[in-house]
Amino acid sequence: MPTPKDSGHESAAGAQIKPATGKLGVMLVGMGAVATTLIAGVEAVRRGKAAPIGSLTQLGTIRLGKRTDNQTPLIKDFVPLADLQDVVFTGWEIFPENMYEAAKHAKVLDKELLEEMKEYLESIQPMPAVFDQHYVKRLNGTHVKKGRSKCDLAQQLRNDIQEFQSKVDRVVVLWTGSTEIFLEPTAVHQSLEAFEKGLLEDDPGIAPSQIYAYAALKEGVPFANGAPNLTVDLPCMQELAKITGAPICGKDFKTGQTFMKTVLAPALKTRMLGLRGWYSTNILGNRDGEVLDDPESFKTKEESKLGVLDFILQPKLHPELYGDIYHKVRINYYPPRGDNKEGWDNIDIFGWLGYPMEIKVDFLCRDSILAAPLALDLVLFLDLAKRTPELSHLGIQEWLSFYFKSPMVAEGLYPEHDLFIQSMKLKNTLRHIMGADLITHLGLEYYD
Ligand SMILES: NC(=O)c1ccc[n+]([C@@H]2O[C@H](COP(=O)([O-])OP(=O)(O)OC[C@H]3O[C@@H](n4cnc5c(N)ncnc54)[C@H](O)[C@@H]3O)[C@@H](O)[C@H]2O)c1
Repeated sequence: MPTPKDSGHESAAGAQIKPATGKLGVMLVGMGAVATTLIAGVEAVRRGKAAPIGSLTQLGTIRLGKRTDNQTPLIKDFVPLADLQDVVFTGWEIFPENMYEAAKHAKVLDKELLEEMKEYLESIQPMPAVFDQHYVKRLNGTHVKKGRSKCDLAQQLRNDIQEFQSKVDRVVVLWTGSTEIFLEPTAVHQSLEAFEKGLLEDDPGIAPSQIYAYAALKEGVPFANGAPNLTVDLPCMQELAKITGAPICGKDFKTGQTFMKTVLAPALKTRMLGLRGWYSTNILGNRDGEVLDDPESFKTKEESKLGVLDFILQPKLHPELYGDIYHKVRINYYPPRGDNKEGWDNIDIFGWLGYPMEIKVDFLCRDSILAAPLALDLVLFLDLAKRTPELSHLGIQEWLSFYFKSPMVAEGLYPEHDLFIQSMKLKNTLRHIMGADLITHLGLEYYD
């Protein structure tokens, strides 16, 4: 089947994207459940043991041209993405376990699968982390760097990145670390100059995740944030990202309950059905659940989960439908469940003439099984953004909103939370950078 790549249709735009030749180094900050499920999963796919289910970059297709053109290549055949065979992993962690031990500890993947890949997983050892218990109260790591100041720690991370860069062709950094305490931007985050001064002075507003982000961006390396921390959604980071041409995105992987919420809420809104209340509760028993059991870390997560409905439902435009919603989100640490989270939603809606109805959702999901393919897509797409002249110096990659609970957007813009708008935005961005026609779904042309 002809694809735009070989049809020459997109030539001018697509030709400017540097090819994905050589090794892509992926540096994971925090090598727990999500990180080990990603690493072991990619290796299982490489060995032909499993399929990359849930990954748009590996399984997704993209329609090109009219519906009658019958052109729907795989996304990975349409845009130049790194091949899984070329992906190399490393990272930082506050515990010294190798990836085999860490994956066993996380209890996400079957022992049998891990045994088969034992040698490979054991070969990946985390580097000592930048950590401060003030920012993640429930953890106490031993595998931690020492430094004279936050600036010194940032320099040590930059050295780690440079050393890894010397072994591979390109690098991407992804935060898969724990959720830090709730922080709000302060004066130290308003400019790069203020942030660099703050690093020297050990400003308490600078959390470890920000030190990693700064180090990556200083090296011109793309950075994605899979947790809800205040990490790259800061003016200083956006300034630096634009200077060094390092794409950034975040925050908080959109995996279980919020994924469902951003599917259901747009459906209600599209049909002009009203909403009185949405009660969401979760039980989970992994290390993430333990960290979120601390009220300060939970607050960070809560803010990220709560924002979604307002932006989708636009209560100011529709006060009679959404003007008085009771929205509550709870997360309860319940060790027996491990990584197998259960998310319940009770949704009180109303329809024609105000008659009430209820929707109940009980999602028995697997947290890291949902998150790992998103993490994979993010590193591959960020690497693509870095090689694409039109995207690399934008800083925020809004087209990757699809992956996040709290998507980053330029100052003054509201984020798009509707999963299907996000999907359209992502695919149209791919069409755009390859010089293919955008798809508006207008459809009148078929009836001329
Ligand atoms: N479905 C999901 O799994 C999902 C969805 C959205 C967001 N997240 C977020 O992704 C992150 C990872 O989730 P997880 O289930 O893998 O958690 P996890 O607890 O298994 O792994 C996080 C790891 O980060 C390490 N860590 C903490 N601070 C660190 C630091 N400063 N430097 C290096 N390592 C550090 C911890 O020791 C831990 O091993 C969490 O913040 C979580 O909230 C996960």
